[in-house]
Amino acid sequence: MDLVHTRAELAAGRAALDGTVAVVMTMGALHQGHKALLRAARARADRVIATIFVNPLQFGPNEDFDRYPRTLDTDLAICAAAGVDLVFAPDRTEMYPAGEPLVRVNPGPLGERFEGASRPGFFHGVLTVVLKLLQLTRPDFTFFGEKDYQQLTLVKRMVRDLDVPVEVIGVPTVREVDGLALSSRNRYLSDAERDAALTLSKALRAGADAARRGEDAEKAARAVFDGSTAELDYLVLTDPDLGPAPAHGPGRLLVAARVGATRLIDNAAVEVA
Ligand code: PAJ
Repeated sequence: MDLVHTRAELAAGRAALDGTVAVVMTMGALHQGHKALLRAARARADRVIATIFVNPLQFGPNEDFDRYPRTLDTDLAICAAAGVDLVFAPDRTEMYPAGEPLVRVNPGPLGERFEGASRPGFFHGVLTVVLKLLQLTRPDFTFFGEKDYQQLTLVKRMVRDLDVPVEVIGVPTVREVDGLALSSRNRYLSDAERDAALTLSKALRAGADAARRGEDAEKAARAVFDGSTAELDYLVLTDPDLGPAPAHGPGRLLVAARVGATRLIDNAAVEVA
């Protein structure tokens, strides 16, 4: 496995890769969720590129950019074990040599809802770095986790709307045995906060059960937050493309909540009876 830090090294490393190429983009602090993406990439393509970059553009002024976990040595061991061929770990000036980009990808109306409503500019920052990394790595496939369902949806939409020549593939959320969705931010949680964090996945299960019985999924899911110290931000039933809630058939239940100082998100497929 090769590790490169500059775009020149990346270009040389990319040119040396034969066959089909998949890219998995990450901000590091890799866990089983990232590993599932790397495995799926390994299974689908001849060569796998992983990128590790904590993208300043997608953090708000009061968010956790400075304290976001940075664990490059362990991340590299995980990538090597997962069969990654090339790791691109640029620093900020390598990614943004002209400083903050003036031109950014506009995520459109969906970028202003849910996560975008709570984190202004977030999806502009995400889509801008994703498009840059796609241009730099030129993959055939790119893998994104369903854990960040709105991100996955917007990346698919960007690729379609802007004719980016890549296939975007979603990978199911990896969870702890008790249901907690794996996240690099889980390591911020104290034991008590980790208990409270379970409220999100419990609420999604309650909502999915209610939907299956023909009951109000949002109401059932919200009720799980009563008496929990997890502070609900939003809990919404949508269709699978994040449009209005379906009367019947497949839907998606999305939740965001604050546990202490940590903001967590989760989502699940539901079937509305
Ligand atoms: P990061 O949070 O590191 O996540 C990288 C990828 O791993 C994303 O596609 C995310 O959805 C996926 N992922 C995270 N936790 C997961 C889990 N429990 N199960 C399955 N997949 C999981 O998302 C980002 O970084 C950034 O926004 C990025 C796309 C790299 C742009 O900066």
